[in-house]
Amino acid sequence: MTAYTIKETLLQAKDVSLVYGDKCILHDVNFTIKDIIRPGLQQGQVVSLVGRSGMGKTQLFRLLSGLQKPSSGSITIRQRKPAETGKGSIQVYQEREVRPGDMGVIFQNYYQFGWRTVKQSLMLAARRNNELAGKEEDSIRQYAEQFDITDVLHRWPGQLSGGQQQRVSIIQQLLKGADYLLLDEPFSGLDVCVLDKVVELLLQVSLSDELKTLVIVSHDIATAVAMSDTVYVLGRQAGVAGSTLVREIDLMERGLAWQKDVRREKAFAETLEEIKGCL
Ligand SMILES: Nc1ncnc2c1ncn2[C@@H]1O[C@H](COP(=O)(O)OP(=O)(O)O)[C@@H](O)[C@H]1O
Ligand SMILES: [Mg+2]
Repeated sequence: MTAYTIKETLLQAKDVSLVYGDKCILHDVNFTIKDIIRPGLQQGQVVSLVGRSGMGKTQLFRLLSGLQKPSSGSITIRQRKPAETGKGSIQVYQEREVRPGDMGVIFQNYYQFGWRTVKQSLMLAARRNNELAGKEEDSIRQYAEQFDITDVLHRWPGQLSGGQQQRVSIIQQLLKGADYLLLDEPFSGLDVCVLDKVVELLLQVSLSDELKTLVIVSHDIATAVAMSDTVYVLGRQAGVAGSTLVREIDLMERGLAWQKDVRREKAFAETLEEIKGCL
């Protein structure tokens, strides 16, 4: 089994509930994402929140993004404080409630490009990141190559396929320098080949920095399990209104994290069955 250690808390949802009028959508959602360290490797975290349609995944996504406040409870994150005294200074961290803009947010089938070409959109994102000052063009070129969108840099958003729009949107968030990437249903509506590519790219992103944390909200259990280190299952408890996390699955402990051919493992199939059992 791969060696790893678990360190500081990066994100914590504490007793999070969401109520609209008298309708309870989410109740007492509690989970903690911790920094995972693998010796000699740059390795971020990949966490999935899965559940049936209508279970409140998108609502939880909105709460995690900071765009919406929970009715009660809190979501806190550990952030690198922007360096104040130039390069080379020590990193300072702060823990605080999540705010809009803390997370790179990738909505489901909805990408915000405005009236700009792909290149212009990416440039705007890059300019928001002080660490890229003077290197914006280079960074865009590198990401474009890595994500295979060089050909469409000068196109308008309407001239891109859904898969291309999604990749541009991911690059946009990476250029902004977000440590956390939050994705709602990133695998839906993709054909099988594109899906594999998106999974590969997201894993590549998670390997780009030790603190990079991907939170994937999805109803595609198999893909979520295949690429995550931890899976949380959103479901119902008998006699209680609204959804909550009904299961936490540590895929590292099961030897199912960071394995390319994980789908062939017996424990993989067993884990899928276990999840289906509590949906
Ligand atoms: N503004 C709102 N007012 C009342 N109910 C809402 C509102 N927005 C979403 N819901 C309800 O929240 C529930 C969860 O929706 P959603 O988070 O989109 O589910 P999922 O993403 O898991 O498919 C649904 O029953 C939906 O009708
Ligand atoms: Mg949804």
